[in-house]
Amino acid sequence: MTVESGRLPAEGVRRMFDRIAPVYDVMNRVMTAGLDQRWRRATVQATVREGDHVLDACCGTGDLAVAAWKAGAGHVVGLDFSERMLERARRKAPELDWVQGDVLALPFEDASFDAAVVGFGVRNVEDLEAAIRELRRVLRPGGRLGILEITTPRGPLKFFYKLWFDRIVPLLGRLLPGGDAYTYLPASVRRFPGPEALAELLGSCGFEAVRFRRFAGGIVALHVGEAG
Ligand SMILES: C[S@@+](CC[C@H](N)C(=O)[O-])C[C@H]1O[C@@H](n2cnc3c(N)ncnc32)[C@H](O)[C@@H]1O
Repeated sequence: MTVESGRLPAEGVRRMFDRIAPVYDVMNRVMTAGLDQRWRRATVQATVREGDHVLDACCGTGDLAVAAWKAGAGHVVGLDFSERMLERARRKAPELDWVQGDVLALPFEDASFDAAVVGFGVRNVEDLEAAIRELRRVLRPGGRLGILEITTPRGPLKFFYKLWFDRIVPLLGRLLPGGDAYTYLPASVRRFPGPEALAELLGSCGFEAVRFRRFAGGIVALHVGEAG
């Protein structure tokens, strides 16, 4: 398991996010030309209803949780295993609940949420299927899961995407604390299942009416499913 292979043990992932926490939000805005917040709002719109009890798993610095709150969720809990990322989330929105924990062993009762969202998180977990099953466990029947994740575009954008993501982003990362995260990032996207395979996995883990849409020419995909 190495940064270059896009696979790290959980402890390595946690330490990596602790290190990049101070630059995480800025890097997101720079790498996506500010589109990342629009994708988060679309994720919330597809997943969260007014008054919902919402889990933002792998919440990082909390932007998806905040978007859910602004969209009218009744109660929002953000969970992450990186304390440094959570510190930033707490500072951003002290009115929400922030919990340190592992998405593979969520510290919540069965069927305790109406909706769950994960933004750019599931790509990093050691056992993707176990994470999806755990998210299914904490959703009430009919509860919605929204997964926003980077993916590899097909077609004309592919060349520019590879140049930006495989060359420029790692270079930018070298200038930053914990910069090897930006070598890990493209490698972890390369080994992650494509949108069709992820949709299939969601179905086999007990989600119904699974659908996905791509954003920005297929750089990012949003999957939504309902707990069966
Ligand atoms: C790329 S960041 C995404 C943060 C945020 N969701 C967003 O939309 O920007 C991935 C986050 O997942 C967290 N993470 C990775 N594996 C985890 C796990 N097994 N349990 C909890 N958090 C995890 C990391 O600590 C990191 O904060």
